[in-house]
Amino acid sequence: MFDLPELPFTYDALEPAMSARTLRFHHDKHHAGYVKTLNEQLAAVGQVPRSLETVILYASKTSNPKLFNNAAQVWNHAFFWLAMSAKRERPSGALAKAIESEFGDLAKLKKAFVEAGVGHFGSGWVWLTAGHNSRLQVRSTHDADDTLTHAGMTPLLVCDLWEHAYYLDYQNDRKGFLEAWFDALPNWQFAARQFEASQGRGEPWRHPQPRPDAKLSKAS
Ligand code: FE2
Repeated sequence: MFDLPELPFTYDALEPAMSARTLRFHHDKHHAGYVKTLNEQLAAVGQVPRSLETVILYASKTSNPKLFNNAAQVWNHAFFWLAMSAKRERPSGALAKAIESEFGDLAKLKKAFVEAGVGHFGSGWVWLTAGHNSRLQVRSTHDADDTLTHAGMTPLLVCDLWEHAYYLDYQNDRKGFLEAWFDALPNWQFAARQFEASQGRGEPWRHPQPRPDAKLSKAS
């Protein structure tokens, strides 16, 4: 059984870019709902998986969209919280150099990130990713899709493009949300660790493992 991870900051820590009200709905209702449904699906098959990553890859390979969607949304949201920080940061070190080399500067990366998010049709996620060769990319994925099913890609940052991520604060202004998000919320220290891992120095973030001692139950 997977647990709903706690937010790494208080509900009001990301204001004004992201309100406490949005975070309460987003984490306590949406993310919690994905965790609950995933646990119910796993209970139905009576197995405790080794990791959430194995569930996502299994569901992807076996064309099990309901399992994939819930498992990937659990993973994506857990990653999303960690990819944000209450401190306004800027990239530094090797990641800053890679941004400069790939995009020119942080403002150009922001432009590419916001444009990718605004141009993405419907729900999904916009990511900053790194390949093995230090090359950075901005890309979006649809609905629950994540980067685990795309070989050779390590996520550094992600922003949620589902309307539940911004509608209470920005209504239909996805661009305004993405601009405010990029200016205030990226956790560049987390992104830097992910970047190091993408180059073989350390391990990328993994979702917390399921509780091994917990008996799977439909009454999760
Ligand atoms: Fe979300």
